[in-house]
Amino acid sequence: MPNHFVARAAQSAHRRLSRVALLALCVTAPLASLTAPAWAVPLQARPAMEQALKQPPQPVKVIEPHLSTRTQNTEVTYLGWPAPLVLDTVLGADWRKPGVDVEFRALDGYVSRIPADKFSQHRAYLVVQRVGHPDFSVNNLAQNEKNVPLGPYYLVWDNIRSPELLADGGNGWPYQVAEIKISEARSQALLPAHLPAGLRAVATEAQTHCLSCHQVNGFGGDKWPGNLAQQARALGEPAFLRWVLAPDSVKPGTTMPPVAKLWPDAEREALASRLLDYLRAVGAQAN
Ligand code: HEC
Repeated sequence: MPNHFVARAAQSAHRRLSRVALLALCVTAPLASLTAPAWAVPLQARPAMEQALKQPPQPVKVIEPHLSTRTQNTEVTYLGWPAPLVLDTVLGADWRKPGVDVEFRALDGYVSRIPADKFSQHRAYLVVQRVGHPDFSVNNLAQNEKNVPLGPYYLVWDNIRSPELLADGGNGWPYQVAEIKISEARSQALLPAHLPAGLRAVATEAQTHCLSCHQVNGFGGDKWPGNLAQQARALGEPAFLRWVLAPDSVKPGTTMPPVAKLWPDAEREALASRLLDYLRAVGAQAN
């Protein structure tokens, strides 16, 4: 556990450095003209963002995955801007290159990497306010958390227009987003040459379901330390499957959510097995 805090402290030190670097650059260049910054770019506060985007935030109604269950959908209206508009303005056009991920980095170190082409398939918004609610927060039923603050920015998807997104629950809905970044590290870490061809597609599933919190070969989030490929191998199959399918039954109150909790059980079990096969194979040559 101490490792976790060390990692966080190191990261926030890094983040402070990034801000200094950015400030230095801002003196000479307006933000919108920067191309493909290699570091995370802090998102400006709402009034500055409104000015940079030249429009006020608009209402967006979504089915809020953190408040919805298998049997009941809860709609929430937020105020925000189309994500591609924000990305174009903050990151320049390079986030639209093929094979690129956009990283959303939260205040607490949570990193959500979203393949850039998902933004052309579905409508996403960066929102700053929850309409008709005392504050900008939501309960997170899956993680047993109440009144989770969502600001400064929260990425939401129009899953009313794209109902196929409903099955993924809160995956790809990072909150407390403070910085964004273009990343090309995904394929290097997740698709090493020795990976069997049949497991390549599972890399995307691992990314969707696990790597916002965990890392594999150095790629992923840092909510829990260590290389998930090694940890999965060390656990062995029965313990891995039990943990991933029902973490709360192994360790009551854990903040690790059950994998794909909205899917039918047979599909969840198949997914967990595929993830184990992938994690065992992808780390085979890592040390
Ligand atoms: C929302 C963040 C989050 C996501 C998503 C997540 N985990 Fe975890 N995971 C955690 C946390 C936090 C712990 C430590 C839990 C504890 O001890 O209470 C953990 C622990 C683990 C462990 C034990 C690691 C060790 O120390 O040996 C394994 C294995 C694991 N997760 C696998 C997975 C897999 C596979 C996925 C994807 C299906 C996944 N996790 C998705 C947060 C997450």
